[in-house]
Amino acid sequence: MHLTALARRKFDMGPRRRFRSPGTRIGALWAALTVLTALDASAGEPAADEGRPWARVVALLQYLGSDYPAAVASGDTFELDEQAQLMNEVMKSTEALGEKARAVLPRLRAVQQRVEQREDPAGVARDARALAEVLMAKVGLKAAPPHPPNVSKGESLFSQRCAACHGAGGKGDGPAAAGLKPAPADLTSQAVRAELTAYRVFNTVSFGVLNTPMPAFHDLSADERWDVAFYVLSLTHPKCDGLPVPTTLERLASKTDAQLAREHGPAALACLRKSVPEAVAVQAVRVAEQRVREALAAAQAGALERTREVLLDTYIFEIESVEPLMWSRDAELVRQIELQWASARAATGVGPAETAVELKKISALLVRARKVVESRLVTVTTR
Ligand code: HEC
Repeated sequence: MHLTALARRKFDMGPRRRFRSPGTRIGALWAALTVLTALDASAGEPAADEGRPWARVVALLQYLGSDYPAAVASGDTFELDEQAQLMNEVMKSTEALGEKARAVLPRLRAVQQRVEQREDPAGVARDARALAEVLMAKVGLKAAPPHPPNVSKGESLFSQRCAACHGAGGKGDGPAAAGLKPAPADLTSQAVRAELTAYRVFNTVSFGVLNTPMPAFHDLSADERWDVAFYVLSLTHPKCDGLPVPTTLERLASKTDAQLAREHGPAALACLRKSVPEAVAVQAVRVAEQRVREALAAAQAGALERTREVLLDTYIFEIESVEPLMWSRDAELVRQIELQWASARAATGVGPAETAVELKKISALLVRARKVVESRLVTVTTR
């Protein structure tokens, strides 16, 4: 009965699965298979970001968590083999993380057995996502969700699960608040908001507040907890009419209002809180353009392994951040980008010149994507 939050998110987005062609499925697999090579390739370099190999495993587990149930449902041998290989890569790359990750290996092996037996879709999806969280916690990985939150979903969760105590507007005046000791926090008050970050709300909702009536919401998925957390942060801000300044999800998740206002100016605050997917997508598409230029330079220098590594990273970290917004604005362009990614990856098996041609096509698509995410024509509100 229990779809994972990501699966549910994709389900809600509707067209995504239908648009995914076999070519892009292979693209996703290739992304997985490149992991070890990528790790090997970076082994000799100074660690630019120690957390990245961990984030990769987390991303792979998230792919497994979201795609495995659909693969089992389809009964398609190719899809199921793909999932088994994906799981294989999860095992190998987790082993490569060393001592710190050793404790999760038995639990991963238990998942792997079920994937090989092609059974227990719901359980595998749940465990894959849970193990991803365990790995993140081990290295204190990013106090941010893996993809932009769905703030309007957060709003409905808030009214269903929080408003009874915190009130519909978050002022701590819900019908169930009377007599609670301590009283539910007024989530709009200066005192509370001075400390509030989305990450803090996420943790409060995850663990509750000990010895108070504030419960832990064990039944909410991580995605749902992030959705409601970002909604809480949007509470006191006026509607966003313009375009938010570009920023990363990590910043939006880990900074207080005061910190964001200091960094981006007080006038930017409302849009940063009300238009999270836009702020994140604009930033991510710019980074993706830069990364594809790096991939092109590597291809032109004949370093095709490096090209593959950069393409993989960019797909996992940047494109996935752009997609939620892009799906609602230009689904066809998303499909083209995914297909073009697969073509570029295929070209790395042919040669530098062929790869360069395909990478230039990606660049052209990303220019179009940037225009789409930066366009003011479509006003997406969080309410
Ligand atoms: C049964 C009543 C109840 C429900 C339901 C409830 N809360 Fe609370 N919440 C409280 C109380 C009481 C406190 C105050 C705890 C304290 O004083 O430390 C609190 C505190 C908080 C805080 C702490 C603010 C800070 O200082 O960091 C946040 C955030 C919060 N709740 C969010 C939520 C969200 C989001 C939901 C719904 C998913 C929710 N709460 C559901 C009663 C509730």
